[in-house]
Amino acid sequence: MVKHIGILTAGGDSPGLNAAIRGLGKGATLAGNIQIIGFRDGFRGFMENRFIRLQGETLANILTLGGTILGTSRDKPHKMPVGGKVMDMTDVLLDNYRRHHLDALVCIGGGGTHKNALRLSQKGMNIITLPKTIDNDVAMTDVTIGFDTAMEIATTAIDRLHSTAHSHHRIIVVEVMGHNAGWLALGAGIASGADVILIPEIPFSVAKVASAIQQRMHRGKNFSIVVVAEGALSDEDAAGSEKSAAKTAAKEGKKKEKLKKICNSLAQYSVHGNINTLRLSSQLEELTGLESRITILGHLQRGGTPSAADRVLATRLGTACIRAIEAKQFGVMVAARGESTELVPLAQVVELRRTVPLDHPWVASARMIGTCLGD
Ligand code: F6P
Repeated sequence: MVKHIGILTAGGDSPGLNAAIRGLGKGATLAGNIQIIGFRDGFRGFMENRFIRLQGETLANILTLGGTILGTSRDKPHKMPVGGKVMDMTDVLLDNYRRHHLDALVCIGGGGTHKNALRLSQKGMNIITLPKTIDNDVAMTDVTIGFDTAMEIATTAIDRLHSTAHSHHRIIVVEVMGHNAGWLALGAGIASGADVILIPEIPFSVAKVASAIQQRMHRGKNFSIVVVAEGALSDEDAAGSEKSAAKTAAKEGKKKEKLKKICNSLAQYSVHGNINTLRLSSQLEELTGLESRITILGHLQRGGTPSAADRVLATRLGTACIRAIEAKQFGVMVAARGESTELVPLAQVVELRRTVPLDHPWVASARMIGTCLGD
């Protein structure tokens, strides 16, 4: 009997999504009894029944392509903006699931997608997920599709910032993505030899960061590279009570709006930029006497062709997904585990976010080579 499988990509894109779609599509084609349709633009396209058949030519020449041929969105089935209102469209998705006689729906995404996928699975759909996000913060998998490429992009960018920081005797504060997890900042920071790496998991003291830069100055190094994850917080901000945090957020929201207006035109700041990065840069200037510049890598980190490691990972997960479908294993994520893969119940995946453990070997190595982590 022919099986009908739907597939969609949701949340922020990441390099390697097309490699995963290809792995799944080619695996299904060769299995012979599986037909795949791809829904456009994540859960929105599934709701609006916009799709393409994934076979033959559609799957050709996409292995090296960045982004996703299906398109993506951050829309949630149970909170979908429709005609100016936010509505629960889960039943419409269920209708489309039945209309296409789907035996399963494969959702490729990050933390948010996994929560949505679990909800759909609880509504009776056969769901399988693949983990992707450049943030690498999906629980219960060793790594996510896109992380390796993003780490490489950030590393190359920081390598280039080194020479200009050195020539101008400046601090360069480089903001990389990662609202909740510091994998990207830590990985790219270690790989590029950053002097300071600040991640959300380790609240930083501005004074300690400044002192690390001053110690370098005493050694004749009048420049420093500070890699900061967008979600990194100073110890003061991290310790603030909820009330004061809310107050600060409101105040900083206003400040940010003002700053955006001023800085956008100066190309110093992107809409994605974090107010904390701006503040950190000016505080470091004040405390060290060195000039400081900010570089926000932003969406550059999500674009372009996937690395070899991401292509291999995506192909491994995509083909393992075919095996799971054939074994009728649903309500699970196909996780990367060492050289192999493992099926993990979605309920376990959504329980936690995978942040950097404070005793992680990357943290230990960074400390051992004298990198300041701000604490
Ligand atoms: O994909 C995850 C992520 O890269 C975060 O690190 C980042 O904050 C967010 O996406 C921004 O995505 P967008 O601008 O597409 O909403």
